[in-house]
Amino acid sequence: MILQSRRFQTRYKEEANSNVHIHVLIGANQTLTVQPVDVKQQMATPSESLPLQDRVAIVTGSSRGIGREIALHLASLGARIVVNYTSNSAPADSLVAQINANSAAPRAVSVQADVSDPDQVKSLFDSAERAFDSPIHVLVNSAGVIDGTYPSIANTSVESFDRMFAVNTRGAFACAREAANRLKRGGGGRIILLTSSQVAALRPGFGAYSASKAAVETMVKVLAKELKGTQITANCVAPGPIATDMFFEGRTEETVNRIVQECPLGRLGETKDVAPVVGFLATDASEWVNGQTLRVNGGYV
Ligand SMILES: NC(=O)c1ccc[n+]([C@@H]2O[C@H](COP(=O)([O-])OP(=O)(O)OC[C@H]3O[C@@H](n4cnc5c(N)ncnc54)[C@H](OP(=O)(O)O)[C@@H]3O)[C@@H](O)[C@H]2O)c1
Repeated sequence: MILQSRRFQTRYKEEANSNVHIHVLIGANQTLTVQPVDVKQQMATPSESLPLQDRVAIVTGSSRGIGREIALHLASLGARIVVNYTSNSAPADSLVAQINANSAAPRAVSVQADVSDPDQVKSLFDSAERAFDSPIHVLVNSAGVIDGTYPSIANTSVESFDRMFAVNTRGAFACAREAANRLKRGGGGRIILLTSSQVAALRPGFGAYSASKAAVETMVKVLAKELKGTQITANCVAPGPIATDMFFEGRTEETVNRIVQECPLGRLGETKDVAPVVGFLATDASEWVNGQTLRVNGGYV
């Protein structure tokens, strides 16, 4: 029975604290007895109400940059995290240690996998399920590469094109496909793919990179519809210029300053500008956002 009067709520809270039963007058000669146990328990263990409590999230490319911040943020929302990387284990292991500090049971593990290889992506999901003995709830695909020489299309080598499409496009496809088959059904399933505001900015020097991300933004719209009935949502998050290794790759100070001037807020984005948006999409509160691309660029585009 739901009782909504303010007087009742006040008395309920007071009596919950004193751990006695409450007798509420509901008619001329009738009283309702309520046990305040649940409220008292909730107040005693506030961490149980974290929005992603104990859900399992795989964050690809989370040893560095935007993915790292996303992993930390999802952990702060209560999720258990699989930190993925491909070439350098040290930063991944250090992040895992940071998340696991002050926690009795492990809340993060690191798993090496190259997202461009579908077999390795399958192993990544296998490892995640085994590590936490749980279905996976959230996939965030942040792994990505760029050609730091920023070639025009006329000067883009086939090798450079293939590398960006292998990691950015085939990688997103392999992760999204695995997630579509394996994420938890019936609530809490979330697919979030990192793309780029270059898809909308269309600056010279980003032809193959932008195309590799545009394909993902198109794919996610179809995927969201195909997941009808699973309660899994699928969205892209498209950052603008964010100060990470990738952003600074091959750029002079002069180029960086020019980009800062183009940003309405007069600064580069930081990884913490992106992580809360991904965090929102990972929670139940975002359910009505589905099949979308959220551009997070401070007005750069
Ligand atoms: N920074 C920006 O300005 C910006 C703007 C728009 C979009 N984005 C997108 O945001 C995402 C994150 O970018 P970032 O700036 O954080 O990049 P970053 O600093 O270069 O970090 C890249 C991460 O991806 C991992 N990675 C690379 N190739 C991989 C592969 N084949 N398989 C698995 N992991 C791989 C790296 O691990 P290792 O160190 O082990 O290689 C690293 O953890 C990317 O998808 C990028 O395209 C970035």
